[in-house]
Amino acid sequence: MTSTEPRSPVVSMRGVTKRYGERPAVDGLDLDVPEGQCFGLLGPNGAGKTTTLRMIYGAAQPSAGAVSVFGLEVAKYARQVRARLGVTLQDNVLIETATARENMQIFGRHYLLDADTIARRVDTLVEFLQLGAHADMIVRRLSGGFKRRLAIALSLMNMPELLILDEPTTGLDPNVRQGLWSRVRALRASGTTVLITTHYMDEAERLCDRVVIMARGRAIADDAPAALISTHLAREAIEFDCDEAEERRFLSSLGNGVPHLRAGNRTMAFADDASRLQDALRDLDGGDRRPIVLRPANLEDVFLSLSGTRLDEEG
Ligand SMILES: Nc1ncnc2c1ncn2[C@@H]1O[C@H](COP(=O)(O)OP(=O)(O)O)[C@@H](O)[C@H]1O
Ligand SMILES: [Mg+2]
Repeated sequence: MTSTEPRSPVVSMRGVTKRYGERPAVDGLDLDVPEGQCFGLLGPNGAGKTTTLRMIYGAAQPSAGAVSVFGLEVAKYARQVRARLGVTLQDNVLIETATARENMQIFGRHYLLDADTIARRVDTLVEFLQLGAHADMIVRRLSGGFKRRLAIALSLMNMPELLILDEPTTGLDPNVRQGLWSRVRALRASGTTVLITTHYMDEAERLCDRVVIMARGRAIADDAPAALISTHLAREAIEFDCDEAEERRFLSSLGNGVPHLRAGNRTMAFADDASRLQDALRDLDGGDRRPIVLRPANLEDVFLSLSGTRLDEEG
């Protein structure tokens, strides 16, 4: 953390390891989630994201290391911590035979809220998540997108200071994802700290103030998305097909100082202004113009450069 951040982190993990069998699911993880930010845990399937969240909300105990939330040690104060946070699990946990509104009321009673408070919060959440007439439908009949909105509404019934979302948009349509992103932004704007996991780099780039990239239980990078991209690579990329000899010629024509990645027979090269890379390749190719993609560099590139694998591969 920088010295300009005034408060202690909402979540703090130090040297946290969780072992199930031989290979640790989480391996010596340090993490600080600053108050009021949207913080992302980004990594492929099996990287240890869900296990990390489970230790934060007290559903799993670390094999080693310390986890505190709101400055409280989770192992000692699990109940107090849970009362102040909301969790939306990777798979929706809903009562399928009740209406959306009834699901919210049941959750409210679970939090021991009085009837007036429950009624007010349900109305607010129906409005906030734009459930409309779907609020009075049986959950079983709702689409995947509405079920996801309801699951998020349930985790907001106790007005949590920290909202934990485990892969909130996995498997949803692009327009449904956009809608959920706007709700997450609105929550963050209203002061809620959001901790989100995803294996979608575009989601992390759009939503998160800061991300930790995880691979095999470890944090391999930790910074703001734009800073990760510019530190590890550069702002822009060109991509083109070539063999290894051509790649060597291209890189040496630029003095060999250019960050680059290779995936299959495709080369990606990075510069803050990638048009100069494009010009260099055109010069080498002469009249023979191969297709070149010029695009912004992204977190997927960072992940590939750090781990040697793509985000959609198994960790
Ligand atoms: N309850 C469990 N028992 C045994 N192994 C587990 C358990 N939970 C997770 N794991 C293992 O730990 C690793 C990390 O899993 P997980 O935290 O679910 O990753 P992610 O959420 O990033 O996909 C995986 O190899 C997984 O199989
Ligand atoms: Mg998971």
